[in-house]
This record gives sequence, C-alpha cells and structure tokens, in this order.
Amino acid sequence: PQLSIVLAPFSGGQPRKGVDLGPKYMLKQGLPTHLEELGYDVEINEPLAGLPEAEEDDKFGHIKNPTSVGDATKLIYENNLEALNKNSFPLTLGGDHSIAIGTVSAVLEKHPDAGLLWVDAHADINTLESTISGNLHGCPVSFLMGLNENVPTSLQWVPKKLRPNKIAYIGLRDVDPGEKQILKKLGIPAFSMYHIDRYGMNTVIEMALEAIGPGPLILSYDVDAIDPQYVPATGTPVRGGLTLREALFLPERLAETKRLVAMDVVEVNPRLASNDVHVVDTISAGCAVARCALGETLL
Ligand code: ARG
Ligand code: MN
Ligand code: MN
Repeated sequence: PQLSIVLAPFSGGQPRKGVDLGPKYMLKQGLPTHLEELGYDVEINEPLAGLPEAEEDDKFGHIKNPTSVGDATKLIYENNLEALNKNSFPLTLGGDHSIAIGTVSAVLEKHPDAGLLWVDAHADINTLESTISGNLHGCPVSFLMGLNENVPTSLQWVPKKLRPNKIAYIGLRDVDPGEKQILKKLGIPAFSMYHIDRYGMNTVIEMALEAIGPGPLILSYDVDAIDPQYVPATGTPVRGGLTLREALFLPERLAETKRLVAMDVVEVNPRLASNDVHVVDTISAGCAVARCALGETLL
C-alpha cells in the first residue's frame, strides 16, 4: 500500500513557537522506516515548503493569523487530495490542529460519506464568535461544518462538508462554554474522559463508530488527548487524560476495522519539553499512535 507522510510544520493556529518542529522530530525518530517495515511504500510530501514565513500577525477581529492559516490549510488540502486520488494514505504530521481544516476537507472531497474521529482533550469547534483565545487551532471543526457567518477571505475556500452526525469526539476534558452549547445544539456525539472511565475505551470506540455509521474514517489525533505524564511537550496540556494504553488501543482497534483512509498527528511541540526525556516520551507517543493506526500490532 501507498503512504504519503505529509509534513505540516505549521504553528500559526496558536501562539507557541516550536509546534512547527513536530514533523522533523517524528521523522528523526525513524517513523518512515518503521512504516516501511509495516509494508508501506512511503513518500514524503512537503506542501508548505514554498510558503513564505508568516507575515506580522494579521488579524480578523480578535482572530489571529487568518491569512497564514488559510494559505497553509489550502496547500495541505490540495496535496492530500492528490495523495488520495492516487490511492495513497495521507498521514499528516503537524503542526497545530488548524491544519485539520485542510486534511479533513481533502478526505470529504474524495469520500463524501467519510466519518471523522476527533481524538483530543479539546473540541476545537469554537466559532469566530465563540472563541475566547482567538487561536484558530481551537476552531477547525467550525470551519469544516460551516458554522461561521463572516469567514475571512483566506478561509473562504473551505468546502464545509462535515455533517454533525459524521463526527465523534473521544477524550474531551477541556471544552469551552460556547463549545458545550454548540455540541448540545447540534447533537454531536462526544465521549469525554468520563465516558472512558464509565464504559472503557473499547466500548467508547464501539459507541463512537455506531454514532458515525458506515463508511471510510478519518482519524484526527491531537496528542494532548493523552495524559501529560506521557505527552508533556504539547501546547495546551490538560491533566486527567488517556493512559498510554488507551491512547494506543484506539488506533490499534481502528486499524482492525480497515476503514481508515487518512490520519493526522498534531500538537507535538518539542520546544515545550523541560528535559530530553519529555521530548523522547512525546515524540515516541506520537509516532506510536501513527504506527498503530497503520497496522502495527503487539504480537
Ligand atoms: N478551547 C481553547 C481555544 O479555543 C483551546 C484549544 C486547544 N486546541 C488544540 N488544538 N490544542 O483556544
Ligand atoms: Mn487539544
Ligand atoms: Mn486539537
């Protein structure tokens, strides 16, 4: 099988420098070789290679960097659609979570019936009105669903094809008040850490897949879903997250379904580690998530 590792070293969706180093560190850990060992024919794509350094923080009201987010996500969209069209699996390495605007849009263009599993401590469904931080990595789902009225020009290319019944969240524990309202109003299936404690990860996955229904699957995996004791080097850590086994069982189980057609691993920020062990732990976890989703098994 064909695999496109898509490097998305983009940090404009949030204020902390260093999340753009994620892809480089995951490559250095040996991810391409490990995926080749799983039987993939690996290519490495760099859709953002020609992108000029982001200009002075451009703003749209209190929204930060709409131009660079719009430009970067469009390049990622075009690249990933091309990969999908030649039957290659796009594994996109972030970068912050705003890049999912591009990755998810590409899959929905190719597979309109695809469902999205959003694994995260956060819902990332703030609208331009509800966001308190103004950071676009907290808003990608609202763009994918078309929940914003006045979209900045740079983001007007986004197709808005995600239906509320084709997404399910797993791992939530830090959801803003405005986001809670949106989730409730749209009836979006959302499984928080409470549900994982109550039913266990295996059952939560069954419930999430049941809610989404049949069809191809996108896995958008924010490493901050995992407890900070395993993944300390990320921009918005929240305590009380997934154990390392829960974090890896999820992609292992999804691989078994043979329904995955694309995935993202985002919000790895080596610069936020306070020592080398933190870097290694975080990068190892991010790479392991990708390998598990792509078929690595314990036995
Ligand atoms: N809800 C907060 C916000 O909108 C935090 C979002 C964190 N998102 C992430 N992809 N880590 O700013
Ligand atoms: Mn998050
Ligand atoms: Mn996220």
